[in-house]
Amino acid sequence: MSLYSMFAGKGPTGFGYASTAEDVTVGLDLKGKRYLVTGSNSGIGLEAARVLVLRGATVLCAARTEAKAVEATKSFTGPGETIPVACELAEPASVRACVATVAAMGKPLDGILCNAGIMALPKLEQKFGYELQFFTNHIGHFILVTGLLDTLTADGRVVMLSSMAHTRAPAAGIELDNLSGERGYTAWGAYGQSKLANLLFARELARRFRATEGDRRTATALHPGVIATNLGRHMSPIALATMAVAGPLFMKSIPEGAATETWALVHPDAGKLNGEYLSDSNVRESSKHGQNMQLAANLWAESERIVAALG
Ligand SMILES: NC(=O)c1ccc[n+]([C@@H]2O[C@H](COP(=O)([O-])OP(=O)(O)OC[C@H]3O[C@@H](n4cnc5c(N)ncnc54)[C@H](OP(=O)(O)O)[C@@H]3O)[C@@H](O)[C@H]2O)c1
Repeated sequence: MSLYSMFAGKGPTGFGYASTAEDVTVGLDLKGKRYLVTGSNSGIGLEAARVLVLRGATVLCAARTEAKAVEATKSFTGPGETIPVACELAEPASVRACVATVAAMGKPLDGILCNAGIMALPKLEQKFGYELQFFTNHIGHFILVTGLLDTLTADGRVVMLSSMAHTRAPAAGIELDNLSGERGYTAWGAYGQSKLANLLFARELARRFRATEGDRRTATALHPGVIATNLGRHMSPIALATMAVAGPLFMKSIPEGAATETWALVHPDAGKLNGEYLSDSNVRESSKHGQNMQLAANLWAESERIVAALG
């Protein structure tokens, strides 16, 4: 808990900046519920998965390798259970294998928490010709979620980890003509673009759910707060030193950072939301680009084209 947490207020939902994942699930019995969590071996994804299991859920804990998921989650105490699954988001074959594994289990998912991510790679890195943060954070999750839509329950939820950093996307929002990143790469611009893509994916998915008569599935996106996790591994020593000083004052703890995604995934109040952007377990306004449904539709069409071309 930071100094700020001690004075932070609560929003209309009754939760706020300082609420933890345990706080937002008090009294909830998740026995019989089943969730898939990506990036479950580290940071706020690990904490969200731990709390889901604590509340009785079965959690399909996805990590780059099955061994990583097993290792990270072995300290969890029930009453729920964990099922480790491999899902390397930068490798479409691995994501598709994960989809096939989950579908073959034959049990519906109550929610998919798209939590995994990488941030601010100092130099341009690419996969299949696409900038790596866009490919991992957006395309990997696009393949995963679109592949698993039929396994969602009638009111299943898709929760996307975006970030306040979506406001740092390039002037065009998503540079659909520069997804290779070769024209003017910046670490934060590329991360911001990938997090804007996570937000626009949730907006468009929500629109598609709404457009289908009787479809009660939902999609939301969120900023979890600023939390010291392994995500900062590519940041400069100066930025890391600044965070070390600011952390005790302004940054969320990992249990606080995991609250909004856990709330969005399981809380009954959050089940009424579809297409919203959240922060501190409440609805927030996003950037203008984050509200641009034409951009969201264009991104969806381009993502389909990219995925189809990957073969
Ligand atoms: N921390 C913050 O301040 C903050 C702020 C805004 C948004 N977020 C978002 O919150 C989410 C969780 O971040 P965190 O802070 O908990 O960071 P973290 O501790 O670094 O966790 C990120 C997770 O994503 C996984 N991951 C990365 N690349 C992957 C890939 N190619 N395939 C599969 N899994 C991959 C990591 O696996 P490995 O351990 O194997 O690398 C790890 O489990 C991210 O989406 C991030 O963008 C965080």
